[in-house]
Amino acid sequence: MDQEEEKYAKLEKIVEMVNKSEISSVQNVVSGITKIINDPESSAKDLKEIIQIDPPLTGKLLKLANSVYYSPRNKISEIQQAIIWVGYDALKELALSQKVCEVFAGDSDIEGYSPNLLWKHSVAVALLGKMIYRREFGRKGENIYVAGLMHDIGIIALDQFCQDDFRVILTKTKTGKKNQTKMEKEVLGFDHTDVGRAMTDSWNLPRELVEVIGHHHNPDNIARDFVRPGLTLYVADYVCQQKRLGYGDAPVRDRELFKNCLKRLELSSFALDLIAEDVERELLKMEEQGLF
Ligand SMILES: [Fe+2]
Ligand SMILES: [Fe+2]
Repeated sequence: MDQEEEKYAKLEKIVEMVNKSEISSVQNVVSGITKIINDPESSAKDLKEIIQIDPPLTGKLLKLANSVYYSPRNKISEIQQAIIWVGYDALKELALSQKVCEVFAGDSDIEGYSPNLLWKHSVAVALLGKMIYRREFGRKGENIYVAGLMHDIGIIALDQFCQDDFRVILTKTKTGKKNQTKMEKEVLGFDHTDVGRAMTDSWNLPRELVEVIGHHHNPDNIARDFVRPGLTLYVADYVCQQKRLGYGDAPVRDRELFKNCLKRLELSSFALDLIAEDVERELLKMEEQGLF
């Protein structure tokens, strides 16, 4: 078996373990909601149906809709009411984040990494990406929001299914002051972007999502159709790590590549700073309200 074949065999094994585990339970909700996002004909009824198939998610969303954060006038006891009170778009996001959040479980605490801190980072990247799309591109940014939530999901698989190697990787990253992704390649022969791509690919998620997750450390190589979300995800990931929002897998990143992404997106660093400040405020608010 040559190196490439060995790499794919190992990735396949990880995906197999992922798909036998709790992690794969996000598949239905994520693929259902991404379908809604990308189908202009879809409606609140479709969203209601997807959520209701998942009773624990329904329970969580109703609890949140009744929380002080949304302060409803009357008790919300049905998803339909939650869609009206919280808002269709906001409930889509909330359902996605509550579902994807379930994957970021476990009590690993290694060299500054924990699933919870990685989740905080993922939410920050999702919010930042979405705000860039809304304010700078005049788009809803729902796909980039999902990509932000899930871009580092490969790290969760490494944490759960390659535990010993993962510990070695994080320790060596810390002591050798090396980039985590490079260390993953050294130890495993692939990195968490490969794992994330293989996982989302096996779940038949939209191509855009699979590609931007698979290229979130090297957006230069992304297919032409996905350049904008690919570059935006890189920028959002870079800024969240620079601001130390949650766990960052590569605190030392490529500043030249970052500047180049800004240039290609025609994004000013001034506009980006303002957006990042709003994201920090929003995260603080969410934390105070116990939203994650
Ligand atoms: Fe990453
Ligand atoms: Fe990241």
